[in-house]
Amino acid sequence: MYENEINRRRTFAIISHPDAGKTTLTEKLLLFGGAIHIAGAVKSNKIKKTATSDWMEIEKQRGISVATSVMGFEYRGFKINILDTPGHQDFAEDTFRTLTAVDSVIIVVDAAKGVETQTRRLMQVCTMRKTPVMIFVNKMDREGKSPFDLLDELEAELGIHVRPLSWPINMGMKFKGVYNIYQDKLNLYTPNKQRVSETVAVDLDSEELDKMVGSDNAGQLRTDIELINGVYDPFCVQDYLEAKIAPVFFGSALNTFGVNELLDCFVDIAPAPLPVESNERKVEPHEAGFSGFVFKIHANMDPNHRSCIAFVKICSGKFERNTPYRHIRLDKMLKFTAPTCFMAQKKETVDEAFAGDIVGLPDTGNFKIGDTLTSGETLHFKGLPSFSPEMFKYIENADPMKTKQLQKGLDQLMGEGVAQLFTHQANNRKIIGTVGQLQFEVIEYRLLHEYGAQCRWQPIPLFKACWIESDNEAQLKEFIHRKANYMAKDKDGRDVFLAESNYLLQMAQNDFSDIRFHFTSEF
Ligand code: G4P
Repeated sequence: MYENEINRRRTFAIISHPDAGKTTLTEKLLLFGGAIHIAGAVKSNKIKKTATSDWMEIEKQRGISVATSVMGFEYRGFKINILDTPGHQDFAEDTFRTLTAVDSVIIVVDAAKGVETQTRRLMQVCTMRKTPVMIFVNKMDREGKSPFDLLDELEAELGIHVRPLSWPINMGMKFKGVYNIYQDKLNLYTPNKQRVSETVAVDLDSEELDKMVGSDNAGQLRTDIELINGVYDPFCVQDYLEAKIAPVFFGSALNTFGVNELLDCFVDIAPAPLPVESNERKVEPHEAGFSGFVFKIHANMDPNHRSCIAFVKICSGKFERNTPYRHIRLDKMLKFTAPTCFMAQKKETVDEAFAGDIVGLPDTGNFKIGDTLTSGETLHFKGLPSFSPEMFKYIENADPMKTKQLQKGLDQLMGEGVAQLFTHQANNRKIIGTVGQLQFEVIEYRLLHEYGAQCRWQPIPLFKACWIESDNEAQLKEFIHRKANYMAKDKDGRDVFLAESNYLLQMAQNDFSDIRFHFTSEF
């Protein structure tokens, strides 16, 4: 069903370390798609550096980014959905979840800086999910590392084989352009923030090449291409789709250069919506029945409006406005009068959307992260794991008159995925786990302003929370008993070991060899 509509959808995310050029690249892709007409039109989702200690300001800036959470545009007959990811590392959990809603990823790397921490972390999620990735090496208009060194670094740091499909001719002040290995075309560099330069077909051995880029550069290019073809196997699309190899492109997003090589190849090879696993069965995108899951909830920061937008990734079939769908967790039929889709930076009401698309559903508390909606069938989608937090604090009630409010507030905020809640097994105290300090401030502020509850924090020095499992029941029991002071339950009542340090975790692994320790809740 809806074969044509679904097959032409490409849903992906761009990930990078802050400042590598994600926003700039997104904007240029929209420019190509004709979705916007002038560069500089996309509001950056980036949190300004000056504001890092002021989270209210950050939330305001994040508020702006609702409109740019998903950006759709048409290109060569394809409907492309770009899912934006927050740049600030304290919101990395949001990014992890966004990666569960995409079929592929483009990684942006700064040519001078190479692979940076945030990229490495996000790549781990892609590896775990076997998501196909393409890499764009940006800022070639500046002096950077040698392209061959960069390729080695990408392989080593990201743990994936790479295959250059475009190749830079010099760099920095002497940057002359890129040779498109994928199409055997030359693209001469003309810095321009608005327009796209023309590409020309050129024979690598021709004198014309020397005339266009100079003999030295032409000679170097010939040697480089020969080396590339000698060292790297021919590019195989299947290997890319199986996440075994990542094609690499070079360019300068700011100068709208090298981006069309990336985009053209992307629409040729990136996967259409893929099947999604549920607890019950595998769900194919072309099935007639609608199904989807909530992967992100964007809260309204206005305390007088406890409304939010639930972002639903459609896994199968067609979603229609004003049609009743079953909310599986609540076992309740819900109808949506104002679902929104996102074209460029505009939010519009939609009448229908198809597998691969994201719809935004205005909500007043019905949805939690991971909830499923279907035409009727009972399905629970997999693939929305919780990741081990990195910071942990006990949360305490600072106003005994407002216990209920605190409880309700915590329940809803955790449902939105603001942070993770664990309950200590020995003392029953509540522990909040986050990726960064800012999340604690967000929780404290929102509890007070939206629920009238006050809280106090007490830090716990922990390394990681590990979900544990074992086929050896006796050993598992023994472990939980011996480590009672370090055991907690997650939101679903599952056993979690709170490791104080990497060393103590390794000791536990050695002492209890039949127990498997996981840093994510799905394994
Ligand atoms: P991000 O979303 O990944 O955080 O990065 P963003 O696109 O905001 O880019 C970060 C900075 O790098 C910006 O400069 C941007 O103009 C610059 N940039 C992006 N692509 C290129 C490129 O190809 N070449 C060069 N030389 N610079 C590039 P900024 O000064 O921080 O911001 P702005 O004031 O220019 O917006």
